[in-house]
This record gives sequence, C-alpha cells and structure tokens, in this order.
Amino acid sequence: MQRTLILLKPSSIERGLVGEILSRLEKKGLLIVGMKMIRLSDELIEEHYSHLVSKPFFPILKEAMQKTPVIAMCVKGKEAVRLVREMVGPTNGRNATPGTIRGDYSISALKNLIHASDSLATAQIEIDRFFKPEELFDYKTVMSTALY
Ligand code: PPS
Repeated sequence: MQRTLILLKPSSIERGLVGEILSRLEKKGLLIVGMKMIRLSDELIEEHYSHLVSKPFFPILKEAMQKTPVIAMCVKGKEAVRLVREMVGPTNGRNATPGTIRGDYSISALKNLIHASDSLATAQIEIDRFFKPEELFDYKTVMSTALY
C-alpha cells in the first residue's frame, strides 16, 4: 500500500469542486487517511514549491495558493502515487485529457485545482510536511475486501 499527498488548491475551493474531486478519489477506491483545511504560510509555500522560487510565475503561484485555505489530504491505496497522478492529469489543464480531473475542469497551469505528489519519495516528504503522525489514521473499511 502507498500513501500520497493531495492539496485541493484555492481554485477548486472557489469553484465548488471539492466534493466532486473527493467523490472521484473515493469512488476509485482510495482511502482518505488524513484531511484538514489549512491556510498556507509564506514559509510553507516556499518550502513546498522550493524548486519553483526562482521561476517568474512564483509570486503569482504564491498569491493564488493563499487566496483561500487549502484542503490537505493523505490518501492510501495500492500504487496510490501513480494512480492519483493519472487521475489528476498533467500540470496545465489545457494539456490534460478529458476524463482526468484537470482535463475535465481546468484550462490553466495556475488554476489547476489540485496538487498531487509526483513520486513515492516526494509523497513521504510532502505527507510529513503537512501532517503530524497523530493526524493520520489507519483503519479498514467494509470496502477494503471488495476492492482488492
Ligand atoms: S511539476 O509537477 O512540479 O513538475 O509541475 P510543474 O510544471 O513544475 O508545475 C509545478 C507547479 O507550478 C505551477 N505552475 C504555474 N503557476 C503559475 N503560472 C504558470 N505558468 C505555472 N506553471 C506551473 C503549477 O500550478 C504547479 O503546481 P502543483 O501544485 O505542483 O500542481
């Protein structure tokens, strides 16, 4: 089983797409093991997007990430890192295939609704960045036996 980090960005909150995105992840069979709403500090954004701080669009990205709180989620499932990335689609919604979250609801690289960890190693770092160990839960659901 893998765990991965998801942020529902201000663009999804502003457009009322939180329920839709959550519903897709749940229906796929991913288990929510952590979820909270937070306001991102300057420090947290600069750490999370440290590979982008020198990009010209960084100030715009930072402002967009602080427009509303974000919803941080940790989800669990077999091959969860790859599965979630595939469900999300590529960074720019205009390049995302219909059927993916960005492909269905975004036409932007900035307002692309959702962030998802890009590798197993990154997922662990990002989960630790956003969640304390006691904020993550391990449990079985009646669905578990039906899924795998
Ligand atoms: S990735 O996954 O890190 O390789 O993706 P990348 O293309 O580098 O993009 C990382 C985040 O940068 C944001 N982004 C932008 N914001 C504003 N303007 C432009 N042009 C732009 N291009 C990329 C994008 O929303 C990505 O955020 P996350 O949260 O990783 O999806």
